[in-house]
Amino acid sequence: MKLARPIDKTHLQLSQVSKSFLREGHPLPVLDRISLTVNPEELVALVGPSGCGKTTLLQIVSGLVIPDAGEIFLNDARVSDGRGPVAYMQQKDLLLPWRKALANTLLGPEIAGEDLRTAQTEARQLFVDFGLSGFEQVYPAQLSGGMRQRVALIRTLLCRKSLLLLDEPFGALDAFTRRQMHDWLLRAWQEFRFTALFVTHDVEEALLLADRVYVLSARPAQVKAAIEVKLARPRVPTEREFVGQKAQLLTWLNQEPEEEG
Ligand SMILES: Nc1ncnc2c1ncn2[C@@H]1O[C@H](COP(=O)(O)OP(=O)(O)O)[C@@H](O)[C@H]1O
Ligand SMILES: [Mg+2]
Repeated sequence: MKLARPIDKTHLQLSQVSKSFLREGHPLPVLDRISLTVNPEELVALVGPSGCGKTTLLQIVSGLVIPDAGEIFLNDARVSDGRGPVAYMQQKDLLLPWRKALANTLLGPEIAGEDLRTAQTEARQLFVDFGLSGFEQVYPAQLSGGMRQRVALIRTLLCRKSLLLLDEPFGALDAFTRRQMHDWLLRAWQEFRFTALFVTHDVEEALLLADRVYVLSARPAQVKAAIEVKLARPRVPTEREFVGQKAQLLTWLNQEPEEEG
């Protein structure tokens, strides 16, 4: 697993970010003074009830949505438009149906005008690492949901942005494939040392992967807790300390009823 060029280091800081949408003429407050930090090379998880504003938060960091208040700093520069060093993998995989799998993953390097031979070599290796070898020349419609999700993740990685925003990247996968993806992601992270902010609804996933977990409240989302996960990797969900942190996280999450969103 190798990328031709190293990924830069990124530091992300959100300070008092608020956002409301208009719904039927009335403001719908979604984010309420969210402050959070993602240090270089950290994996940071966002958990919170459905509909609380997690996707909105990622859209704000990516520049797709403009916040009403607050500030976002990427590497100490204020984020004002969507052209930061950010690769965003949305909740839906958004693969281009008319492009074969490999061609889908080369979108970033193509748009950036990079050397496609290098990118293609990297992509082929990542297809092998992801258990997708043999599926390079297959259209998205012929792939399972889990496979499409993996293709989307390869595409995100090949953008070589220093900050990855991943919105429930493994949400569509079965439990076994999910665990494989965790191992893969951690191996990729150990090698490339990217920085990532990811959304998950799986508390165990958050604790397996993240250096820090932010627990959000129901809408309008506020940060209820920032939990540092100091467990050594590879982490084992059956270990006593892991079980203890999981119980703590669940307590934070379950202090209010889940809302449909
Ligand atoms: N563009 C939009 N216009 C109006 N309401 C929106 C818009 N985007 C999201 N919302 C609303 O904001 C709330 C939070 O949505 P979202 O960020 O997708 O939550 P989550 O990802 O945590 O499930 C939901 O009630 C949703 O309906
Ligand atoms: Mg969402």
